[in-house]
Amino acid sequence: MPGKTFYIIIFYYIVLLLSCGKNESSPSSNPCAGVTVNVTGNITNPSAPGASNGSITVTVTGASGFTYSLNGGPFQSSPTFSGLPEGTYTVTAKNSNGCTGTATFTLTAPNPCAGVTITVSGSSNNPTTSGGNNGSINATASGGTPPYTFSLNGGAFQASGNFTNLTAGVYTVTARDANNCTGSANFTLSDPCTGVTITVSGTVTNPSAPGATNGSITASASGGIAPYEYRIGSGAYQSFGTFTGLGAGTYTITARDSRLCTGSATFTLTAPNPCAGVTINVSTTITGNTPCTSPPTGSITASATGGTAPYTFSLNGGAFQSSPTFSNLNAGNYTIAARDANGCTGSAPATVPNLPAGPLFTQVRTLIQNHCVSCHNAGAANGGVNLQPDCNIVNFRQRILERAVNGNPSPMPPSGLLPASERQKITDWINAGGRYTD
Ligand code: HEC
Repeated sequence: MPGKTFYIIIFYYIVLLLSCGKNESSPSSNPCAGVTVNVTGNITNPSAPGASNGSITVTVTGASGFTYSLNGGPFQSSPTFSGLPEGTYTVTAKNSNGCTGTATFTLTAPNPCAGVTITVSGSSNNPTTSGGNNGSINATASGGTPPYTFSLNGGAFQASGNFTNLTAGVYTVTARDANNCTGSANFTLSDPCTGVTITVSGTVTNPSAPGATNGSITASASGGIAPYEYRIGSGAYQSFGTFTGLGAGTYTITARDSRLCTGSATFTLTAPNPCAGVTINVSTTITGNTPCTSPPTGSITASATGGTAPYTFSLNGGAFQSSPTFSNLNAGNYTIAARDANGCTGSAPATVPNLPAGPLFTQVRTLIQNHCVSCHNAGAANGGVNLQPDCNIVNFRQRILERAVNGNPSPMPPSGLLPASERQKITDWINAGGRYTD
């Protein structure tokens, strides 16, 4: 076990270690610590915009042995920087220990336009024609330092305040004086037709007949400045207001005056109506239809009076034709229209009837009803033949002749041929034509 002295030594050793840790420090190596370099100064502004004769002279407190740098440039011993244009500058001062301070200075050129008002005035001339480009502005300036230059609508400056070849519109003229001070004014060039109303009036001569082109219009204009020119539709302008060779129709006459101000009016030329007071009477001659015949045999032949020949004719609103006859018509109701040389029309109804049954057909029909229909009807059409409908009798007439008259290939009725007098009725009818109307 160690002795008491050993513990005492160990104790002080620990105290020493602790105290060394706490009090460890070294002397400062920064010579600028606690040093403040305070930079102030005086400026001289440039004497004019663009001049480079401004200067800065700085004053420093805080130590000695200073050198000076402008905007990070090389250090110099003089505290004065001269030959400066307007701008913002940073001056750094550094003492012999390398301690620095800075200050910022702003050099401002005098504003030559302060309190200066450039006034633009002058005269303008409107274009002399509508849409024309011979307007002009003659501008002058005052209030600044001559000479002035002038700009139109932000364009290049020129020595003259005279601007030509201008159309109607609003223009801004800017004047600039010797010190670049500017002022501006607006000039309005008006269209010479603004507020002008050209009135066109006139008389018409209608064409003498439908389709004729001997109408005319004579127009005259007022409200503008003579001389006037006139045109019809989109035609060329002419020096007089008469237009001839016109058919029926609507025409626009436009007049323009010496400034090209325009006005127009519409004129309507009407041809006389050739049908006024004209009544076209249509009469018809009708042929009835023969039933059971294809094509049908009805016809209508029309004639017209009251208008101007030649006439053309139309059936039920169809195309007009020169022939007055419409054939192959079924029985029914029709409308016939007639149109004359002047296009005047009239119409009439026409009814095509079915012709009545002829006497020979009537005899045969009775015979068939008596001797054949019992075996040839809608319910029992032996041999595919139904002899009840009238037209079936007509259509089967050759077979009826063969079977009931000639007995070929076997007689009808099957029980034996009818008496000769009955068979003669069939023969007579067929010899007469075998039609419904025979
Ligand atoms: C009792 C019944 C009967 C009577 C009455 C009768 N037929 Fe027929 N007919 C027939 C039968 C069955 C056939 C089919 C067999 C044939 O063609 O011989 C026929 C077929 C026909 C045919 C179709 C065949 C062909 O040759 O084209 C015709 C036409 C015809 N008859 C006409 C007549 C006429 C006309 C009469 C009256 C004068 C008549 N028949 C009366 C029973 C009859």
